[in-house]
Amino acid sequence: MLKIGTVTIASSCILAPLAGVSDLPFRLINRRLGCEFAFTEMVSARALIYENKTTLNKMLATEPADRPLGIQLLGRDPEVLRKAQDKARGYEFDIIDFNAACPVTKVTEKGEGASLLKEPKKLGALLKVVVSNASVPVTVKIRSGWDAASVNAREIALCAEDAGIAALFIHGRTKEQGYRGAVDYAVIRTVKESLSIPVIASGDALSPRLIKKLFDETGCDGVVIARGALGNPWIFREATAFLQDRAVIQRPGMDEIADTMTSHLNLIIDFHGERMGTLIFRKFFSWYCKGIHGIRDLKTKAFCASERAQMIATINEVREMHWDPGMPDIAESRMQMEE
Ligand SMILES: Cc1cc2nc3c(=O)[nH]c(=O)nc-3n(C[C@H](O)[C@H](O)[C@H](O)COP(=O)(O)O)c2cc1C
Repeated sequence: MLKIGTVTIASSCILAPLAGVSDLPFRLINRRLGCEFAFTEMVSARALIYENKTTLNKMLATEPADRPLGIQLLGRDPEVLRKAQDKARGYEFDIIDFNAACPVTKVTEKGEGASLLKEPKKLGALLKVVVSNASVPVTVKIRSGWDAASVNAREIALCAEDAGIAALFIHGRTKEQGYRGAVDYAVIRTVKESLSIPVIASGDALSPRLIKKLFDETGCDGVVIARGALGNPWIFREATAFLQDRAVIQRPGMDEIADTMTSHLNLIIDFHGERMGTLIFRKFFSWYCKGIHGIRDLKTKAFCASERAQMIATINEVREMHWDPGMPDIAESRMQMEE
């Protein structure tokens, strides 16, 4: 269990905000398999003010089965953030997270996301604005620092706590590392030991074993699951069992995978329409099938599908496949295949 301000979350493993991935169907499929808290995709404060309503209504769409839910905001101008929060009041969510972690150049060159790690006082001042204008708990997501020579997560975290946030998320890599290289468990531990609010750790939460390692090495209150949930919503129930009594749950069989893929595809098509939904599902097909032996031809087929029936026929062929026996831990090997 995890408590963030007034919000109680039934599990200490939560689903990360994932730009371009965390839409309502993705969150719902993860929630069906044990996820208890999720985030929307990161939303720029400027977009909230100026973006067309249809885009926003899609990005911020939710339903009762999708709660409690966090919204993640990106920005650096206090006035824009204030207006964005006023706009956001028209949508339903339980927590506002402020992004000071995004490493993407088009974000950092505007002084937003991870760029704010270079300005601890500015970040603290922005958080004060967000906190004073919020009716729900406010959190912040940071990284260990900008680069190896400027690891300042503790200083940032203290400024953020002082600004009145309810919890802090920390990805144990620098901006320069992006998503590669070793996770700095020690810096997360230092932050945890320095704060009195909950600290939720992120970085290589790719399998139940690695999730337990994040808890053990850092003493954190919760863990954020990000790449580990791509095509693998089972990670929530597997992590819960492993954390409780080190039980290792059998990998899902091919029928369970195909059934879950079909449900996910149907949710996506209901939400985005048949053609767009099928195109969006192509990347999920690939993620769901990582570690399945001899999957290459089916992936090619999925990448040509543009209608529901074609995609479902391809999903049904997965039922005849089997796991690659050379891959003992599918979630960790998924990551290795990514590199
Ligand atoms: C495709 C993708 C999109 C992401 N989008 C966001 C985002 O919008 N906001 C955010 O705070 N982090 C984002 N992240 C970072 C993750 O939340 C997480 O901190 C990072 O992937 C490290 O965890 P992992 O090593 O377990 O994947 C994203 C990561 C990926 C792979």
